[in-house]
Amino acid sequence: MLFSALPFLFPSALAAQPSAPSPISAPLRDLEFGQLNFLHTTDTHGWLAGHLQEPSFSADWGDYISFSERMREKVEAQGQDLLVIDTGDRVEGNGLYDSSEPKGVYLSEILRHQHIDVITSGNHELYKQNTSESELLRTVPNFRGKYLASNIDIYHPETGELVPLAPRYKKFTTKQQGIRIVAFGFLFDFTGNYNNTVVQRVGDTIKEDWFQEAIRDTEVDLFLVAGHVPAHSSEYRAIYKEIRGIQWDTPIQFFGGHQHIRDYAKYDSKAVALASGRFMETIGFMSIDGLSTTNGPSKTSHPTFNRRYLDNNLFSFYHHTGLDAESFPTKKGRKVSQLIAESRTALQLDQVHGCAPKDLWMSRVPYPNPNSIYTWLETKVLAETLKDESRGERPSVAILNSGAIRFDIFKGEFTQDTTWTISPFTNGFRYVKDVPYEKVQLIMEILNQQTKILSTVQDETEPSLLPLVSPEQLARPEEIVVDDDEMSDQRITFDMSGSSQMPLSAPNTAGKILPGYTTKDDAGEDGDDTIHAPISFYRVPNCIQALISANSSGVPEKVDLIYIEFVQPYLALAAKFAGLELDFVKGSDVYMPNITLTDLILEWVRKHWQCE
Ligand SMILES: *[C@@H]1O[C@H](CO)[C@@H](O)[C@H](O)[C@H]1NC(C)=O
Ligand SMILES: *[C@@H]1O[C@H](CO)[C@@H](O)[C@H](O)[C@H]1NC(C)=O
Ligand SMILES: *[C@@H]1O[C@H](CO)[C@@H](O)[C@H](O)[C@H]1NC(C)=O
Ligand SMILES: *[C@@H]1O[C@H](CO)[C@@H](O)[C@H](O)[C@H]1NC(C)=O
Repeated sequence: MLFSALPFLFPSALAAQPSAPSPISAPLRDLEFGQLNFLHTTDTHGWLAGHLQEPSFSADWGDYISFSERMREKVEAQGQDLLVIDTGDRVEGNGLYDSSEPKGVYLSEILRHQHIDVITSGNHELYKQNTSESELLRTVPNFRGKYLASNIDIYHPETGELVPLAPRYKKFTTKQQGIRIVAFGFLFDFTGNYNNTVVQRVGDTIKEDWFQEAIRDTEVDLFLVAGHVPAHSSEYRAIYKEIRGIQWDTPIQFFGGHQHIRDYAKYDSKAVALASGRFMETIGFMSIDGLSTTNGPSKTSHPTFNRRYLDNNLFSFYHHTGLDAESFPTKKGRKVSQLIAESRTALQLDQVHGCAPKDLWMSRVPYPNPNSIYTWLETKVLAETLKDESRGERPSVAILNSGAIRFDIFKGEFTQDTTWTISPFTNGFRYVKDVPYEKVQLIMEILNQQTKILSTVQDETEPSLLPLVSPEQLARPEEIVVDDDEMSDQRITFDMSGSSQMPLSAPNTAGKILPGYTTKDDAGEDGDDTIHAPISFYRVPNCIQALISANSSGVPEKVDLIYIEFVQPYLALAAKFAGLELDFVKGSDVYMPNITLTDLILEWVRKHWQCE
């Protein structure tokens, strides 16, 4: 049989991707199983191949399928249940999704093999017409009966009719325990969707008849609210209050996401929320014991909840299933790992463009810094590549939002895959000519320091403005004061607040405790399965700027103000505050037509980072 022969030919094809690093052993906290157990992913953003340069997160979607199959076998042998949840943002952010034409065709074939019990849409599924239509026409049918959309409608591409993206909710009973569950699938109050979808505000949705009826069902042992909604959020609080107002005693389990963090919220002794990170770094585990069931004698439940954030690697998976490299992979899991490898080959994601001489970090070093990816962009990439011949030698300043970069660069091979993970967006550049340099500096100051003013105005005038920084940065605690004069004060350490945390990046070779996630949440400090040493991280500005082609005669008087398209509405607001009459809509023009930030990075890397 072909499958049994493969492992002998390619030992690493047993599981994970062929080029993935082996996981490093580390001390682990065990899982506490219960009557009802959950595995949860969120914000995977196309990373179904796992992380090929980080041992802690090197398992792929095939391994996750094996893991959930083995976990189901394990708990069902005890008469317990397992449910698998995914809460959206499956798209955009990795070459496995973005680099195919049309986007997502390989990804959706890989994704569909996982048995998912409740799946919902994120905001990224709704930015573009093609993406949301592909949800409607592919993902919803692939997960028929599992996909829920409590507050999303879509104009059907064929009939033009406004229809629910998927059913609003469902009621089902678990196989082993007979636990009766009413499940919902929400998206936060998102306004940046393309106009072919309609996202209803959560506060309005929960007043609708169907919702009111669903929460009045008394034959329910658990309300399950899955959603692309932060665990701590006004949306989940509103849903919690609405259900609690009707059912004072029924347990509620929320699963959430969007902020890209590990987080756990306790709404009351019988209502909790779990958020499970980002990018296939984390598999969230949740168990509930003490639920009432159709099989059980008692109608009163006294639930206990347990949560765990698993590092997505085979070392963790073997440990929690009690299996090993021989006994762990399932037939389906292996097949999907193989399918991922084939898809990556077809998309040429392993094509090497250069070799990075060192790590470049988004937020593990202060900014500016020789090891900051933003400093590198400003002083090298933009300064040396951003040049529109039609503008001659005119000096210019380029402004980028820091959220345009989505991931760190690791020392070593810079592949096609790396290109997509660090810069997945397709924004090009525009410019406005003859802007006084001093005013540009004032605009930068406004963009970076007075975000509160900007966000107030934004709510009134432009409700659909998207954040300038990455979701991880947004999720970081507000109360931390950044002192511009004192770089060390920009350091945000782990013990300062709520769920501040940072992922593992550099593997440790000494065999001791590795740096990585050290999560603090509403249940304490024991949530992570892998015991890690903490990592510090730093605030990054909303926007960065590069001064380009200014000559030695000092600071220019007027410049071409170049900017990545994404920031235009912010720039327009900031310019207004700076007292500058600029029409960014009619008074701007395309800079370097058809060139994106990704193109510039690639050009620079090919030229300067040749492999030895
Ligand atoms: C949408 O998808 C179609 C078919 O896959 C493709 O031809 C078209 O260019 C896509 N549109 C956008 C805006 O990406
Ligand atoms: C959506 O926006 C496009 C322009 O981008 C417009 O042509 C179309 O009529 C709008 N559709 C609806 C339903 O508003
Ligand atoms: C320096 O820039 C100014 C405009 O800012 C230009 O007039 C001058 O020719 C430039 N000099 C050189 C050597 O490029
Ligand atoms: C460049 O973009 C313009 C529109 O901005 C388009 O008409 C043209 O076909 C593009 N050229 C290439 C080579 O993609």
